[in-house]
Amino acid sequence: MKKLLYISASPKPETESVSKQAARTFIQRLMSQVTSYKLDELDLYTSDIPMPSHQHFDRQSHLVTGGIYEALSDEDKSDVDKMNTLCTQFQEADTYVISAPMWGMSFPSRLKQYLDCIMLIDHLFTIDSTGFHGLLGDKERHMVYVQSSGGVYPKIFFGQMNYAVKYCRDIFKHLGVSTFDPILAQGTETPGVGRYKALEVAAQDMDDVLNRLSGPHPMPIGA
Ligand SMILES: Cc1cc2nc3c(=O)[nH]c(=O)nc-3n(C[C@H](O)[C@H](O)[C@H](O)COP(=O)(O)O)c2cc1C
Repeated sequence: MKKLLYISASPKPETESVSKQAARTFIQRLMSQVTSYKLDELDLYTSDIPMPSHQHFDRQSHLVTGGIYEALSDEDKSDVDKMNTLCTQFQEADTYVISAPMWGMSFPSRLKQYLDCIMLIDHLFTIDSTGFHGLLGDKERHMVYVQSSGGVYPKIFFGQMNYAVKYCRDIFKHLGVSTFDPILAQGTETPGVGRYKALEVAAQDMDDVLNRLSGPHPMPIGA
């Protein structure tokens, strides 16, 4: 079975969170079309996500092993183990859905903390004299980024104003993920729009993404 990993990054419960509600609708629709998915869910606010620190790494973002690991406190050993587990969970997935609100034109720091946990060298990427090389191009992988925002940001200004979408598109492309699709519930706090209309518009975005993901040839990132 293919693995669908759903990572959510809003501190609100799903009943109150627009990004989580949009993502849930998308996941339900995707799983009704592609029945071969096994769903794994990770709520970054209710899960224990380590705060990476210098004693967890020996070189670059390589987790300590052997005697250095054994010399760590129980708490640090547990953090290293969790980072390993989170990284493996990410490596094993085929399709990813990340949901997050726009915070400060980007995403909540909890999502960056999670990315710092999983960005382990020789697992997700390598670096050599010719530069950074992603290791996630070993199979076809798809990333869907579901974002809610209080304001409305025309797509033409994405590079300048929607740093979350730009950053995620760039980093996952560099890691080797085949496709990246944003789904946007915009204007949750904008007069004349509001959360229900924002969700309606996001549902229209989903049609395109679902067609592409259930079709034979999803378009590569940046195409
Ligand atoms: C700390 C914080 C920062 C925010 N920053 C922005 C922002 O930069 N731009 C924006 O349009 N909305 C911003 N908002 C509004 C949220 O993006 C909006 O309420 C969103 O719908 C929340 O999604 P959620 O219900 O899934 O948590 C911010 C909200 C909070 C709490």
